Amino acid sequence: MSEAQPVRLDTEGEIGVITVNNPPVNALSPGVPEGIVAALRAAEANPAIRAVVLIGAGRSFIAGADIRQFGKNRVRPPLGQRVYDVLDAGTKPVVAAIHGYALGGGLEVAMACHYRIAVPTAKVGLPEVLIGILPGGGGTQRLPRLIGPKAAVDMIVTGRHVPAPEAAALGILDEVLPEGADLRAAAIAYARRVAAARPLPRVRDRTEKLAEAKADPALFDDVRKSIARRARNQKAPYNCILAVEAACTLPIDDGFKREQELFAELENSDEARALRYAFFAEREAAKLPDLPPGVAPRDVRSAAVVGAGTMGGGIAMSFADCGIPVKIMDSTPEAAARGIERIMANYATSVRRGSLTEDEMKRRLSRIEVVGDYADIADADVVIEAVFEEMDVKKPVFRALDRAMKPGALIFSNTSALDIDALAAETSRPGDVAGTHFFSPANVMKLFEVVRGAKSSPETLASAMALGRKIGKIPAMAGNTDGFVANRSRAPFNSEMVILLEEGCLPEQVDKVMVDFGYPMGPFAVGDLAGLDIGAAGRRRRAAANPNYRKLPIADRLVEMGRYGQKTGAGWYRYEKGDRTPHPDPEVARIIRETAAAMGVAQKTFTDQEILRRLLFSSVNEACRILEEGKAYRASDIDVMWLHGFGFPRYRGGLMFWADQIGARAVYDQIAAWHQAYGERWTPARLLRDLAESGTPFREAKPAPMT
Ligand code: 3HC
Repeated sequence: MSEAQPVRLDTEGEIGVITVNNPPVNALSPGVPEGIVAALRAAEANPAIRAVVLIGAGRSFIAGADIRQFGKNRVRPPLGQRVYDVLDAGTKPVVAAIHGYALGGGLEVAMACHYRIAVPTAKVGLPEVLIGILPGGGGTQRLPRLIGPKAAVDMIVTGRHVPAPEAAALGILDEVLPEGADLRAAAIAYARRVAAARPLPRVRDRTEKLAEAKADPALFDDVRKSIARRARNQKAPYNCILAVEAACTLPIDDGFKREQELFAELENSDEARALRYAFFAEREAAKLPDLPPGVAPRDVRSAAVVGAGTMGGGIAMSFADCGIPVKIMDSTPEAAARGIERIMANYATSVRRGSLTEDEMKRRLSRIEVVGDYADIADADVVIEAVFEEMDVKKPVFRALDRAMKPGALIFSNTSALDIDALAAETSRPGDVAGTHFFSPANVMKLFEVVRGAKSSPETLASAMALGRKIGKIPAMAGNTDGFVANRSRAPFNSEMVILLEEGCLPEQVDKVMVDFGYPMGPFAVGDLAGLDIGAAGRRRRAAANPNYRKLPIADRLVEMGRYGQKTGAGWYRYEKGDRTPHPDPEVARIIRETAAAMGVAQKTFTDQEILRRLLFSSVNEACRILEEGKAYRASDIDVMWLHGFGFPRYRGGLMFWADQIGARAVYDQIAAWHQAYGERWTPARLLRDLAESGTPFREAKPAPMT
């Protein structure tokens, strides 16, 4: 909260203007709701004031409750005395003047006002479900009264941000101002116009839209069915539905009570704690603690991508989607043409599915230009190399970029494992070079792993992080180590899942455990989607570099047989022509049996928990090594990478947050036992042992300085 008073009441003639000023987003931190209540009471008591405007200073109206206060012993006013109730009880019209965001408690305050006006760029929403709770400021009762239960339940269960024009069409806003209008002046004028209007239009008094639920008795069950897969293991989405249902059946004050009960069930749930953690972890990951003060990122207005393969195309789309013009080139015109065809096909699919309009597709495509020569990309502010993942292929590209690019251009490599310093050494400007590792599909996956080379300048690193945010990704920093942070921490999981097969598991059994845990797909099904040949190439490279590398004979055998996954109709599963559904394959079961027998591995059965822990603990151990070596800033950065790179269920917080729920001691003891049973690959990391011995949670681990 700012030092100054977070809420102020001014008068403009007969209009009282209440300004909330709690940077950066005007959250309802302690003092803010109390300040609004005091200002409302003062305006009510002042006979010179006939109507009131409620507005936010800075970049937003009110972004909601202060999330940092949840889970603490918050002092909350009882029903009847909250800011919403004071608004309901008022006798003078209050106009909410919205810019930036009116989210959660912010929209709830606005809905308790009598009128709502907004600038066209404003966004409103009730995103509480995304942090594992429900709107607890009357939002579940007022929104259905304003826009009908069907639209309300959709907004509350998805938590989506609704742009002002749509919010007006739905009935949330009374007016959207023309572009460029002065919100404060317009709101004061609006308040003058409605100063004498009586009775005051209170949302709580409206019931006409609730009839919709009576006309459609299956409404709420249909919503429950439609979210069943994505909301599995979670409670908040279901409590949101129950609360809106209550709005349709109970008088509003009873509805408020029901909302409170349903809210109380959620606030301290594991799911809410994990989701709050994830919210702050993402914001923390964007910060570079060792950056010298005053380093500003370079401005990026144009981009280039070298390599028009699947990754290069997806990266070009990421720029185009965010309004940045991008040039794309490949070694031959044919390869570039194939790349642009793939991009067009991807966009066309989005148009067919209704997630993109034809016009927007054309706008995006118009930002992508295929060029044939390095000279054509020389003036780009940033270039991303996305050619084949081989040092010998990438090095000449870096030499060419060094010759071609304008001074000050950022030169980034989209590599998933290769040494960024070796690439930087091919140039005369290693300070401008860093890694930017996109995840597949690059235009969809949010993780943007920035790899810090030994010579990357602070400005280059700050620019890479800012670029990630600019193109709508979640950036997180990694040190230069084989596989960087995301893939390196995931590698033991990838080995362990195949080793489990040697010991008696089947792919479908492992996949079921991980889907039940919350992953959208099991790891074997994901392997088939990505292509098993890709993993095999990585294993070959690692085996060449490390004579003790643990071979995975079952996985190698499938690749030798040409079972590359979906693209060949068979991998860990078999696939019917033109269908992506994985079917368990007796042939795979036979290969597993034969290989295990040839290796002399004893077969046993596994519980679900053993499978889960074998996979995830192996990665926790490696993550500890990464921290101990100073290749990541924080344990929570690793969580962000798992959430946005690998589909780890968000409501479990991330790999390390999940491990903290078990405790470093228990994780260490299990890993030490497996070390005895299975040998070297389970050697406990030194940091893990230290955390276990000192009783320190993973999230508080102190990594070595980043190198
Ligand atoms: N509480 C506490 N801190 C918040 C916050 C909140 N509601 N919203 C944002 N912040 C903090 C962020 O942690 C960040 O802090 P930092 O600079 O120290 O890292 C800072 O504000 C800026 O946030 P962003 O980097 O996210 O800024 P953006 O401009 O990218 O996004 C935003 C702005 C869309 C408002 C985004 O911050 C957001 O989605 N905030 C959360 C909104 C939300 O969930 N509201 C509902 C809260 S629950 C509630 O209202 C319960 C009620 O029903 C009773």
